[in-house]
Amino acid sequence: MDTAADTTAMRRAVTLAARGLGSTSPNPVVGCVVLDATGQTVGEGFHQRAGGPHAEIHALRAAGAKARGGTAYVTLEPCNHTGRTGPCAQALIEAGIARVVYAVGDPNPQATGGADTLRAAGITAERGLLGEEAEAVNAAWLTSVRLGRPHVTWKYAATLDGRIAAADATSRWITSAEARADVHRLRAEADAVVVGSGTARTDDPQLGVRGIDRAVQPLRVVVDTAATAVRPGARVLDGGAPTVVAVADDADARHLPDEAVLRLPRAADGPGLDLAALLAALHGRGVRSVLLEGGPTLAGAFVAAGLVDRVVGYLAPVLLGAGPAALADAGISTIAQALRLDVTETVSIGPDLRITAVPGPARKEI
Ligand SMILES: NC(=O)c1ccc[n+]([C@@H]2O[C@H](COP(=O)([O-])OP(=O)(O)OC[C@H]3O[C@@H](n4cnc5c(N)ncnc54)[C@H](OP(=O)(O)O)[C@@H]3O)[C@@H](O)[C@H]2O)c1
Repeated sequence: MDTAADTTAMRRAVTLAARGLGSTSPNPVVGCVVLDATGQTVGEGFHQRAGGPHAEIHALRAAGAKARGGTAYVTLEPCNHTGRTGPCAQALIEAGIARVVYAVGDPNPQATGGADTLRAAGITAERGLLGEEAEAVNAAWLTSVRLGRPHVTWKYAATLDGRIAAADATSRWITSAEARADVHRLRAEADAVVVGSGTARTDDPQLGVRGIDRAVQPLRVVVDTAATAVRPGARVLDGGAPTVVAVADDADARHLPDEAVLRLPRAADGPGLDLAALLAALHGRGVRSVLLEGGPTLAGAFVAAGLVDRVVGYLAPVLLGAGPAALADAGISTIAQALRLDVTETVSIGPDLRITAVPGPARKEI
């Protein structure tokens, strides 16, 4: 049975896991806490980067001999396979751990089975404690394993009346410096940042992470069907981070560096490129999480294709009354088709509000 001490230890493990966001792909983020036989914390760890030791190994190293007879709390089922590092289930057995509490089962067919290995060695292995919180912190990786494509967060910044620019197209700055700094945290947690050609043309964004120590720069992606929006000298080509310009198979992209060009099929039933093919190509490059930064046209196409897993809206207490809306056509023409979301968090950021929501199960309003 889970005690308050179990919950405290697992919550700490979830917090530790979050420290790996943005630097572990294509691996999951994982946190681990080891308590000794008397319930004292003797080891902590998290998976810091792909190819580096797993969370359990860091925590067991810190615990040393004190792990014997203790309990390990892990946010994800300990792995059972030998990849670039050895199997964690075996390491827990060898350390003399008596009980393992893990939050989420490992859906990866190559790594699953760790709990069975532990039980076969006489260790108590319990699943499910703080499962929802551990799922949330690992949403990107779990989505990518389950769906075979990266997890997509659509982020926008809008006025309280839902506009992302004024009627004359001026848009700097709708939200506060604090909110904009928070966006850099989101970028740092993502493997790739994606914008459409309209945004590239209007804003010439750099799309890198600024102001965060030791941040891993995400891959910068511009969806530019005809290869006309990203010109030599564009800030997105500044060398500060890797860049991909996704263009149509037949686009003339001779002005772009070869290594930046990603050729994709056009969408079968609408304008622009095939977005599923874009995500598949990014997944093939190890991208597990995408931060879609708009604009409204591209975001609408992602929503229409069912490719948005999380929405983060920054709302400024500002009114414009005219100007483009945060989301353009998403293929929804009647209220019964509205995409309804569940709010998972609301936070004040400076004078603004950050709302996070995820598509909920289909609901009928009575
Ligand atoms: N406040 C915010 O959060 C925020 C964020 C971003 C942008 N913005 C603002 O948004 C404005 C630009 O937005 P926008 O809507 O004009 O442009 P956008 O969404 O950035 O880009 C749209 C373009 O992407 C290309 N595209 C490629 N494949 C597509 C597909 N499958 N579906 C849809 N589009 C596809 C299309 O042009 P091609 O096919 O010709 O390439 C399309 O016109 C700017 O004013 C910018 O400042 C605001």
